[in-house]
Amino acid sequence: MRAGSIATCYSLESAEQEGATLSQSFRNSLRPLVPQPLLVARGRILHRAEEIREQFPLFKLQYFSPHNVSFGKRKELARRMRLAHEGIECAHTHAEMDRLIRAILAIPVSTEGCIIEAGCFKGGSTAKLSLAAKIAGRKLIVFDSFSGIPSNQEEHGTDIFGRRAGFREGNYVGRLEEVRDNVSRFGEVDCCEFVEGWFEDTMPAFQRPVALAFIDVDLASSTRTCLQYLYPLLVPGGSIFSHDGHLPLCIQAIDDDEFWTKTVGYSKPQMPDLGKKKLLQITKPIGV
Ligand SMILES: C[S@@+](CC[C@H](N)C(=O)[O-])C[C@H]1O[C@@H](n2cnc3c(N)ncnc32)[C@H](O)[C@@H]1O
Repeated sequence: MRAGSIATCYSLESAEQEGATLSQSFRNSLRPLVPQPLLVARGRILHRAEEIREQFPLFKLQYFSPHNVSFGKRKELARRMRLAHEGIECAHTHAEMDRLIRAILAIPVSTEGCIIEAGCFKGGSTAKLSLAAKIAGRKLIVFDSFSGIPSNQEEHGTDIFGRRAGFREGNYVGRLEEVRDNVSRFGEVDCCEFVEGWFEDTMPAFQRPVALAFIDVDLASSTRTCLQYLYPLLVPGGSIFSHDGHLPLCIQAIDDDEFWTKTVGYSKPQMPDLGKKKLLQITKPIGV
């Protein structure tokens, strides 16, 4: 089923590419006939429209919800998220972060647990999550090597959207001082605790209840380590969000029943969006 959907992506992609090439060459042939100022204006309008589309989640966050946070706080949150996005190199979209922030703010006050981030890169996601953690009155624990992706032999090939994917040792490096500095400038560094090292070395000693975790780690091996050590700590009804739900090797790892029962020690939870979404929510059922 999943392999089928990837194959469909390939054929759709090539048909789309063919169509795109044709319409592109038609457009190119018309270009000399269109006055230059009109082309420039069109480019500016398209660029602005794209900016508005990208930033729409922040607008929604500010003006519409969540209702348990005052308008003033939401306005400030959206403003600081925009600044963080502009000031730090980020590997996520506003829409993805908006979903995570809403999930953090929706955790009932009576629910115990900290927020976890595994995989922070330069600290863009950390800064934004720390703003939500501050409002929610929770700690944000940040796990990372702070030296990038570990050495690995994983061949990711093509993701569910038909794009090439590959992660080499040292990709996405953000040094601890750089991350701490970015979070101090754009987020709430006092809410954060940084845990430096490979997940397999640092996570086993971590034993605090977790209300929500964001794992953005690119590798199937790192995804497995995070699930192995974080899922058992997750409070019932809590969620782990994986940002790697578009990568076939990560999907395979998350979908592996034996891994869940033998390594994690729980049966595999329901994941209706597995293989369909990049930001995949994995919720621990209540009563397990
Ligand atoms: C894609 S980046 C995170 C992007 C960031 N969340 C953002 O949205 O800007 C992946 C991160 O995972 C970390 N990472 C991956 N596997 C790891 C492992 N086994 N141990 C420690 N860090 C790891 C890398 O150091 C890197 O910072």
